Amino acid sequence: MKLWGGRFTKPTNQLVDEYTASINFDKKLAKYDIQGSLAHVEMLKECRIIPATDADQITEGLHTVLLKIESGEAELSEEHEDIHMNVEKLLIEEVGAVGGKLHTGRSRNDQVALDMRLYLREQLIEIIQLVVSVQQSLHTQAKLNLDTVMPGYTHLQRAQPVLFGHHMMAYVFMFQRDVERLTDSWKRVNKSPLGAGALAGTTFPIDRQFVAEKLGFDGICENSLDAVSDRDFVVEFLSNASLISTHLSRLCEELVQWSSAEFSFIELDDAFSTGSSMMPQKKNPDVAELVRGKTGRVFGHLVGMLTTLKGLPLAYNKDMQEDKEGMFDTVETLKGALGLFAPMIETMQVKKENMYEAVRKDFSNATDLADYLVEKGMPFRESHAVVGQVVLHCINGNKYLLDLTLKEFKSFSETIESDIFEKLNPEAVVNARDVAGGTARNRVEEQIEKAVELFQSS
Ligand code: ARG
Repeated sequence: MKLWGGRFTKPTNQLVDEYTASINFDKKLAKYDIQGSLAHVEMLKECRIIPATDADQITEGLHTVLLKIESGEAELSEEHEDIHMNVEKLLIEEVGAVGGKLHTGRSRNDQVALDMRLYLREQLIEIIQLVVSVQQSLHTQAKLNLDTVMPGYTHLQRAQPVLFGHHMMAYVFMFQRDVERLTDSWKRVNKSPLGAGALAGTTFPIDRQFVAEKLGFDGICENSLDAVSDRDFVVEFLSNASLISTHLSRLCEELVQWSSAEFSFIELDDAFSTGSSMMPQKKNPDVAELVRGKTGRVFGHLVGMLTTLKGLPLAYNKDMQEDKEGMFDTVETLKGALGLFAPMIETMQVKKENMYEAVRKDFSNATDLADYLVEKGMPFRESHAVVGQVVLHCINGNKYLLDLTLKEFKSFSETIESDIFEKLNPEAVVNARDVAGGTARNRVEEQIEKAVELFQSS
């Protein structure tokens, strides 16, 4: 007999049971469901809605049910559809008919909204910690690479040299915004929907605030219709997760490129690389590729959730059961990626000489030659054209700016003196960008220090 079977004259078609059941995935919520029920029953007792002895029996029963679910001893069945009804059924088996008093003044609609919030809020803490650990690994690499000059790119064409430490710090600040977004979302997740009932509230003299405080919420959802139909917090999480995945994926793309023979800027540690079943020489950046690849499913869950919600009238609709798998999968996907990322970054070997060579054998100091001529009084537009001619001369002669003689320089502009060679040195080029947020060594050091303050506050 179903818990709601009273008005039915036939058993449910088995296919319907199978199709509508969520127990196979919402069993993940067991712990939170029982946590919510414990607070609810305590409130029922406190408000004298059910007798204290009944409440105590239910409380004890709920603890036993949790133990039995966690040990695998309790059988969860599709016949009882979801985690809420399975728990209630198990409770009644445990303590008898009195267990049926637990659901007084409550609906599965406010219950499931509560469980989702309890789950997500716990996950948010773990995910924030993992993002911070990724930031710390990047920060460590930044500190180790304050003297590593690499080509900086625009359009994936060598543009101007930067410090590898500067490049690492770009990601530290990027992930900082993710930490801030997750932290900010907390205040919208951490509200209690319990007491909204099915949609309109309840006739029992419940105390919503009591339950909210018991469960560590910052307050209650103010409108019962909104409380049971709001899944903004899921969308917001999926959106934040999508942005984190985007950031991870961009870095993955760089790691994949940098570990190719064509770049050869880094080598990922053997423990974080994989081989080929056919080609004995291969060492593949599979982790970086897979993190990049899994971005697709995270985006998919975000679009899926938005689409599920967009046509729903108030209040609860069964469609909303679709909120769970995407969220669970996103949490697992994200935690998996973030957990691997920190050690992968920390153990990667940076091939400083190759980066330097790529800067040396290129024209990424051309802007500095143009700026030099500007200092000598030439309008920038003119110096840009002159340096373009110098670069063309070099390309035709298979040389780079630093290979030119002073005489050659002077054939383009008489104002060029021998101090030009010092100015065009990769280190000098980097250190000339001595502006807040720039790539000069001392400016990158400033960023590194700023980040420490951010870590302390997050
Ligand atoms: N399993 C349902 C869900 O996840 C719980 C709420 C069901 N409520 C209802 N009235 N059918 O959304």
